[in-house]
Amino acid sequence: MSELIEAVLADAPGERLAELPVPDRYRAAYIRKQDVGMFDDDERDPDVRRSIRVGEVAMPELAPDEVLVAVMASAVNFNTVWSATFKPVPTFAFLERFARQGARAARHNRPEQVIGSDASGVVVRTGTGVEDWVAGDRVVVNPIHSSGRVTSGSGDGMIADDTLAWGYETNFGGMADFAVVKANQLLRKPMHLSWEESAAYTLCGMTVYRMLVSPNGAQMKQGDIVLIWGAAGGLGGYAVQMVKNGGGIPVAVVGSEERAELMREMGCEAVINRQEFMNAPDGLKNPKTLRRMGEAIRRLVGEDPHIVFEHTGQETFGASVYLARRGGCVVTCGSSSGYQHGYDNRYLWMKVKRIVGSHAANMAEAHESNRLLRLGLIVPTLSVTYPLTEAGEATRAVQLGKHVGKVSIRCLAPSDGLGVEDHALRARVGEQRLGLFRKY
Ligand SMILES: NC(=O)c1ccc[n+]([C@@H]2O[C@H](COP(=O)([O-])OP(=O)(O)OC[C@H]3O[C@@H](n4cnc5c(N)ncnc54)[C@H](OP(=O)(O)O)[C@@H]3O)[C@@H](O)[C@H]2O)c1
Repeated sequence: MSELIEAVLADAPGERLAELPVPDRYRAAYIRKQDVGMFDDDERDPDVRRSIRVGEVAMPELAPDEVLVAVMASAVNFNTVWSATFKPVPTFAFLERFARQGARAARHNRPEQVIGSDASGVVVRTGTGVEDWVAGDRVVVNPIHSSGRVTSGSGDGMIADDTLAWGYETNFGGMADFAVVKANQLLRKPMHLSWEESAAYTLCGMTVYRMLVSPNGAQMKQGDIVLIWGAAGGLGGYAVQMVKNGGGIPVAVVGSEERAELMREMGCEAVINRQEFMNAPDGLKNPKTLRRMGEAIRRLVGEDPHIVFEHTGQETFGASVYLARRGGCVVTCGSSSGYQHGYDNRYLWMKVKRIVGSHAANMAEAHESNRLLRLGLIVPTLSVTYPLTEAGEATRAVQLGKHVGKVSIRCLAPSDGLGVEDHALRARVGEQRLGLFRKY
């Protein structure tokens, strides 16, 4: 173990961290360019445990606007599954394209890519141009890697064309003992949460914030009914909380009775088991099934949804367009079941509905969303933590959809539960709420 890591684990002051040498190599979960194509003969089950490796990689140099973070914990996202299956495109293509921008970007184009788009940890080095952060700061990382220049009249940073997903479209991601990020990606770590809880929020939480709350998304208002697909999943667990926190009425769609029970424990009274509809002949393609699902929603909450929270894609999108009320909105950030969506356009135009595409969050949205977590209004939906050495197993669990909420990875944190500073706020939020997803 390097002196720097020992000092981080011993809670050494920032000045001490800043003077200790940065190691030349560090432990990381990574995928290899030479493995692209390894699943070509095995399309049915591209098992990510075969492509994700854990070992030493070379430490990159730090650019003036960057920060080196000693990573205490990270989390698995769906993009980790995409990276490790090399689908829909190998992420090495992103690194090659990024590298064409010039010298500093070229550092990212390596034969291996350190994956992971979430992290909590401690700043150990700052680039020469960084003024807002110092060694010793405890942080979480916003996964949007960009210059921060707003290039559109709307003022929305997500429209800037240098916006990349860190640890997916860039190298040096979060599933590692160290991560290189731009200083503008840093956010203050919530003081009442452990390292692994803090790491389980940022990517999914801020994505949900933009989709539901932001003027760039569905702009949910008090009393809105929101139909949430995959409500017990990574995005869904935060969507349910943000709808309730904002005075809306969530209708949770889940895939099993056990998950329905989890939703009720979260205080979500309206729950639909999707098996009842998707297992019917022709599933959601059958107009009778759609009508039945619409009736089920109205029985539960009395009206049609103002907003449908979409990420499930091909299998559900037609139903989402149908189920939204007249004038309602389908907001989407993904396509887990397939990218080619079909829907009956008559329901869209005749009933004056909107489809809104959304991706991650701009800096303002990321800050607002992190603030909700720091205040304890939203809690992490962490269900299980794996050590970094088992990054492949952790990602496999998400690939198979076995998990609920979020799956974290312990990187430098020696055990769960460390990193809590504000015990009074933690007690106010309550262990019962904080531990709910771990029971399932
Ligand atoms: N653009 C962005 O910024 C962004 C950010 C985060 C995630 N995403 C995308 O959003 C998607 C979900 O991410 P996540 O982290 O929430 O994943 P997740 O943790 O795997 O949760 C997805 C949930 O969807 C449900 N589901 C799966 N297949 C379904 C189907 N065919 N029909 C209906 N429900 C289905 C599952 O719940 P049940 O089985 O209980 O129904 C599952 O819990 C992924 O495609 C991801 O790439 C995009």
